Amino acid sequence: MRQGELRHLMPALANKTYFNYGGQGPLPEPSLEAITASWRTIQELGPFTSAVWPFVEAQVAAVRSRLAAACSVGLHRIALTENVTSGCVLPLWGLQWQAGDELLISDCEHPGVVAACRELARRESLSLAMLPVMALSCQSAAADLDGAILDALEQTLTPRTRLVVLSHLLWNTGAVMPIAKVAERLRGHGRRPWLLVDAAQSMGSIPVAEAAAAADIYAFTGHKWLCGPEGLGGVALSERLLEQAQPTLIGWRSLRHEGSAGSSWHGDARRFEVATSCVPLLAGLASSMDLLDDAGSAELRLTQIHERSGQVWQGLQQICGCETLLQEPPPAGLVSFRLTGSGVPSPEALVAQLGEQAIWLRSLDDPHCLRACTHITTTAAEVDLLLAGLRGLT
Ligand SMILES: Cc1ncc(COP(=O)(O)O)c(C=O)c1O
Repeated sequence: MRQGELRHLMPALANKTYFNYGGQGPLPEPSLEAITASWRTIQELGPFTSAVWPFVEAQVAAVRSRLAAACSVGLHRIALTENVTSGCVLPLWGLQWQAGDELLISDCEHPGVVAACRELARRESLSLAMLPVMALSCQSAAADLDGAILDALEQTLTPRTRLVVLSHLLWNTGAVMPIAKVAERLRGHGRRPWLLVDAAQSMGSIPVAEAAAAADIYAFTGHKWLCGPEGLGGVALSERLLEQAQPTLIGWRSLRHEGSAGSSWHGDARRFEVATSCVPLLAGLASSMDLLDDAGSAELRLTQIHERSGQVWQGLQQICGCETLLQEPPPAGLVSFRLTGSGVPSPEALVAQLGEQAIWLRSLDDPHCLRACTHITTTAAEVDLLLAGLRGLT
C-alpha cells in the first residue's frame, strides 16, 4: 500500500490537519471494521459459550505473536496490557527491593510513570535520583548524543542504583536514547540495575527490536504510532525479570490454571495480565499493524516520518522568533518548538487558535512549548498549512 492510500483510510484525517500522532494515532477504517466484526462474531458465537473461546484465544495469540515479532523477543516475553503506563508499572511493582536502593529516573519521563516510581520509593524506602537527559538532548549534535547520554549515566550511577528509567524516544524533546548501549553498561554494574523503557513514542515510529530485546521492561501502547484502538498495549519483559518478579495486580489471567485460586502464576509474561479485557480491540490493532506493514518496513516508514518532520523543522527555522528544541532536524517524528517575542500567544493559546483552523498540535508543560508530530500519513501540504498557520499567528 502506498502512503497516500493509508491516509485516505483514516476518517480522522479527512477533515483536519493532524499533528498529534504522539498523543493518539488515527484509527483506519478497516481497523474500525475489524473491531466491529470481531464484536459481532463474539456475540454470534457466544458471548460466554464453549464456541467462542477458540476464537478469543486465536485473537490473543495472533496479537501476542505480532508484538513479539516487532520486539524481536519470544512469545513468552510479551504481556498484553491496556496502555503504556500499566506496562511500566505492573512489572516494576513486582520486583524485589531493599531499603536504600536508588531509582535513577531521566528528567524526560512521563508524569504518570514518575509518580508511580515516587510512590514505590515512599513505600519501600528507596531513594530517587535524576538522570539529566533533557538539556543534553537539546544541546548535543546528533552524532555526539549517545556519548553524552552514556557519560551522564556514568556520572549518576552509584553503587546503590537498582533501576534506571529512560524512554526510548523522548516525548518532549523528540530525541532517541541509546537504549541498547545503556543496557550494556548496566550489565557491567555490580547491582545489575533493572532497565525500564517507556516506549510510548517509539513503538510504531522507529525500529524497536534492539531496544525492546535489551530492556527489562519495554512498555508500549497500540493507540499512538501503531494507529490501533485505545485500550490495548503490551510490554516486553526480560528473562531475568520473568524469573524474579511477582505479579502485582492479580487476576485469573495471571494464573496457570485460571479456575483455581491455588494455582501457580504463569511462568511467562502472562503473569502480568489481569482479567477480562476488550477482545475486539485485538482485531483492530492487528489490522492497523497489517496496514503499517503494507506501507513498508519500520526502517522505510521512519525515512518517511523523518522527511516530513525535517520539513517541519526546516520551516520553523524560517519563522521569526521560533526556536526548535533540537538543534538539528529530529531523528523521528516529534518536533518541539517555542515561539518567542512580545505579544506572541502562549503555547496553549496557539493550540486553541490553530484548532480553530482545524490544525491540531499540542502544548507541553515541561519544557513549556509546542509539539507537532509527523507520521507516514502526513503530507507536505499539511506541513505547509501548519507553517502558514503559525506565521499568521505570530
Ligand atoms: C512518553 C509517554 N509515556 C506514557 C504515556 C501514557 O500513555 P498511556 O495512557 O498509554 O499509559 C504517554 C502518553 O502520552 C507518553 O507520551
